[in-house]
Amino acid sequence: MSSALTLVRGQILHFLSDPIQDDPSSYEYFADGALWIEQGKILKVGNWETITSTITPEKLSRATLYDYSGKLIMPGLVDTHCHYPQAKVIGSYGRQLLDWLNDYTFPTEAAFADPDVALRGAEYFVKRLLAHGTTTASVFATVHPTSVDAFMQTAEKYGLRMLCGKVMMDRHCPDNLRDTAQQSGIESQDLIDRWHGKGRLRYSITPRFAPTSTPEQLHIAGELYHSRPDLHVQSHLAENWDEIHWVRSLFPELFDYLNVYEYYGLTGERTIYGHCIHLSPREIQSMSEQGTAAAFCPTSNLFLGSGFFDYSKVAEANVRIGLATDVGGGTSFSLIRTLGEAYKVSQVHKQPLSALRGWYLATLGGAKALYLDSFIGNFTSGKEADFIVIDTSTIEELDYRLQGVESLSERLFALMIMGDERNIYATHIQGNKISFDA
Ligand code: GUN
Ligand code: ZN
Repeated sequence: MSSALTLVRGQILHFLSDPIQDDPSSYEYFADGALWIEQGKILKVGNWETITSTITPEKLSRATLYDYSGKLIMPGLVDTHCHYPQAKVIGSYGRQLLDWLNDYTFPTEAAFADPDVALRGAEYFVKRLLAHGTTTASVFATVHPTSVDAFMQTAEKYGLRMLCGKVMMDRHCPDNLRDTAQQSGIESQDLIDRWHGKGRLRYSITPRFAPTSTPEQLHIAGELYHSRPDLHVQSHLAENWDEIHWVRSLFPELFDYLNVYEYYGLTGERTIYGHCIHLSPREIQSMSEQGTAAAFCPTSNLFLGSGFFDYSKVAEANVRIGLATDVGGGTSFSLIRTLGEAYKVSQVHKQPLSALRGWYLATLGGAKALYLDSFIGNFTSGKEADFIVIDTSTIEELDYRLQGVESLSERLFALMIMGDERNIYATHIQGNKISFDA
């Protein structure tokens, strides 16, 4: 149960907008800060003295106090693209996307036809997310509806704000993972009825990617998305050249990869596409105009040899961008490690990602990319109180590196390059500290 009143003390950082030029008005930092939480929602954020002086002693005496002095408090991290059944294939050797899917991913996903496997997998995945400081994610299940039930049930149990959907896939895949266009529409609708808007859960319509759906299935997915004003869509786009050439051969009448999704009505607000590495200027412009978001998955893109997402170019075009692990193409659950890799990828384009922009990307930027920023992403009044507590002293080399460093951006940068899940001291959901022991 969410305890009614919660007071949190520590170094508090959150973003108000994208710190494009490291603009100081884009974030707030309180060296001795307080969060005042009522019924799981942020009511106040600010300096400890200021905030506590505005609350009556009677109320203060009833609050649960978490004193994290000396530690850094940030909004929960947002993973904008990951696959929960693929936790078992992380670090599977070899080659590029299409072989990796056939050799490792599809056989592993087939096991999720069993509801017990799905439930155990969901429990494991959710706990790992929380231990890594991720409190919201956009999650692919498998083609089996029970895999969505398992994930949603688990997310609900922990009180999480999550997006998930059943993979729609009716061609170019093994028989035991293939649905039909009609069946995928009926099953997705049934899952929407069961889970969409239940507590903090939302449904994301999930055609795997253009090559594994017939035109009929993409059409049904588009119709579903437009059937309500608040459904989400997630898929993959322009990850790998063989994939792109394949799409071109399957949809010769459409002029580029994004145009396939556009044609079937799968672009616009609340739609997000993983990877988006090899995009034409037209595709970038169109994503920007329509509000279609991109999920930047650096560890996956490096691991599968897919290429280097051009963050600065896509961001300059005003495309919404979120950070993502893409587990299990990605190599870690940690969005802190992912930020480190995002920085290295940005160096390829000679546009190094600043620390402030990086941490924005992992929090409010991700929430905006998923169109969930009215609920999560920062500590403005009324937001849901999902936050993490970071302890930089738990990694000896980082602790040593930071001795005597006062500058916030320098500290944040070293954390994003050297930090990882060992720095996640606590994770709070709707104000409550949660236990995520495996
Ligand atoms: N494209 C289609 N399916 C997948 C997947 O599971 N992982 C990645 N990285 N790319 C995909
Ligand atoms: Zn993916």
